[in-house]
Amino acid sequence: MKLLDKPAGVALQMAAALALAVANTRAQTATAATIAAPHVDITQHEKRVLEFDGQRVVYRAFENIPYVSHPVDARYQRMNIYVPEAYFSGGSVGGYTAETAPIFLPNNVGGYMPAEPGKPGTRRGGMADTISAALAHGLVVAAPGTRGRTLKDATGRNTGKAPAAIVDLKAAVRFLRFNDQNLPGNANLIISNGTSAGGALSALLGATGNHPDYEPYLAALGAAPGRDDIFAASCYCPITNLDHADTAYEWLFGDVVTYDNHGSGGRLTGEQLAVAVELRTLFPDYVNSLGLKNPAGESLTLHPDGSGGFRDYVGRLVVASARRAGVKGPAAEAFPWLRLEAGEPVGLDFGGYVAHAGRMKTPPAFDALDLSSGENDLFGDAQINAKHFTTYSITRSGNAGATADPALIKMMNPLPYLNDPAALAAPHWRIRHGTIDRDTSLAVPAILALTLEARGIDVDFALTWERGHSGDYDLPELFSWIDAICAAAPNPADGRQDPSN
Ligand code: DHB
Repeated sequence: MKLLDKPAGVALQMAAALALAVANTRAQTATAATIAAPHVDITQHEKRVLEFDGQRVVYRAFENIPYVSHPVDARYQRMNIYVPEAYFSGGSVGGYTAETAPIFLPNNVGGYMPAEPGKPGTRRGGMADTISAALAHGLVVAAPGTRGRTLKDATGRNTGKAPAAIVDLKAAVRFLRFNDQNLPGNANLIISNGTSAGGALSALLGATGNHPDYEPYLAALGAAPGRDDIFAASCYCPITNLDHADTAYEWLFGDVVTYDNHGSGGRLTGEQLAVAVELRTLFPDYVNSLGLKNPAGESLTLHPDGSGGFRDYVGRLVVASARRAGVKGPAAEAFPWLRLEAGEPVGLDFGGYVAHAGRMKTPPAFDALDLSSGENDLFGDAQINAKHFTTYSITRSGNAGATADPALIKMMNPLPYLNDPAALAAPHWRIRHGTIDRDTSLAVPAILALTLEARGIDVDFALTWERGHSGDYDLPELFSWIDAICAAAPNPADGRQDPSN
C-alpha cells in the first residue's frame, strides 16, 4: 500500500522474486537460478486512459503477472492489476488514496470453466464493464485468472478440476498481501466479486480464509506465504452448496413439470418425476439439521411436505424484493400471485411465484445420474472427467466407482468452513440473487446468508426483482456498500490477526 519509489514493474518483480525465494527456501529446493526463473518476470506497467460514464480515468496496467512460482497452467494462473494513476503522486479518487483504497478482486469465472484475467472493457456474458467502473470509483483492481474444469495439460491430464479454482484465488490473495508494501491499495481490504460459479468461488474465498485444508495445494503451486483471508465477499447468484443443491432445487421447483434450458426443454419423464419427488423429500431433513433462525430468533424449519418457516422466510424475501422495486398498483397486477393490500405487495402464493419463475434443469439438477453436468465435470480428477458428489446420485445411478473424494466436496462448499474456527471468514458479505433465477434454488443463497448471520457476520442479502441468472447489474449499489464497509473498517493494519499465527 506504500507509494512506489521505483518503476512499478521493477518493484513488483523484486517482490515476486522475494515471494519465490521464501517459498523455495521453505521447500528447501532454492537455487539462485530458480529464484530468477522467467515465469516470475512481471510485465512493466503501461499508462492508459479510459472513459467511463463520461469520466476520464488515467490508470496504470500491470498485466499477466504470475501469482504462483510453480504454475500448472501459466496462461490462467496470472493476474492483471490496474491502479488509478493518481495513487502514484499522492492524489485521491472518490475519497480513496494509495493508502486507503480497497483492492477489488473480480473473478471472471462462469460455469466452473477456466477464466482469463479480466481487463477494462471485459463484459462477461454481456454484463457490466465492472473493472472500468471500479477504477473510475477509485478502487485498485486485481483481476486473477483461474484454472477451470475443462483444462488439460499437454499429456491430456486434467489440471483444473476441484479444488483448482479456489486454490488459485487464494494464491492470488496471498500474492497481493505479500506485495502490499509495493502496490497502492490496502491488502487488508480485499473485496472479492463474482457471479454464478464465480459467485460461489467468491463465497468460498470469503468462508475459508487461511484454512489448512488448502495448504498442501498452495504449497505445491509455490504460492506466496501468508494469509489468504479477505475483507469482504460480493456474491451474485452463487452456484454453491453443490452437495445439497439437487434437493434444494426440487424443494423449490418440484411441482413444475416442464423445463426450459436455454431454449431446449420439454416435459419431465416419469423417471425424472420420481427422482424429483425423492429429492424434494430429502430437503426438509437437511434444512432442519442446520438450526436456522430468522433475525428475530424464530427457527426456520420445514415440514415433510416442504412447507414451514423456512419457506415462509423465502417467500418474504420475494415480497420484500417486489416492494423495494416499487411494484404496486396496476404494475403489481401483472403478478397475480402477489397478495396486495392497498395496492402494495404484502404476501404471495408460493406455488404461483414458483410457476412464474419456471424450471430450467431436470432432476437431479447438479449431480446428474449420467454424469453429464458441469458439476460432475468439476469433481473429476486428473484421469477421470466426471464424478458423483451426492449420496443420492451415487446410490440411484449405481455407479459408486465414480465418486468424488469427500474432502474435495467439502473444499468446494463454504458452509462447513463457516462453522470451523480454523477458517477466518470475511467480516462483510453482500449476496444478490434474482427472483427469477432458475439456475439454482433460492434456498441456496438463503441458507448461506442465514448461516453467516447466525455467526454474527455482517451480511447484506437481498433478492433482485425479476432478475434472472446474472451479476454486476447494480454496480453503484455495490460500490456504495464497499464505501460503507471500508469507512467503518477498524485500522486495518492493526486490526484482525490470523489465528493460525
Ligand atoms: C453456472 C450456471 C449453472 O447453471 C451451473 O450449474 C453452474 C455454473 C454459471 O453461470 O457459472
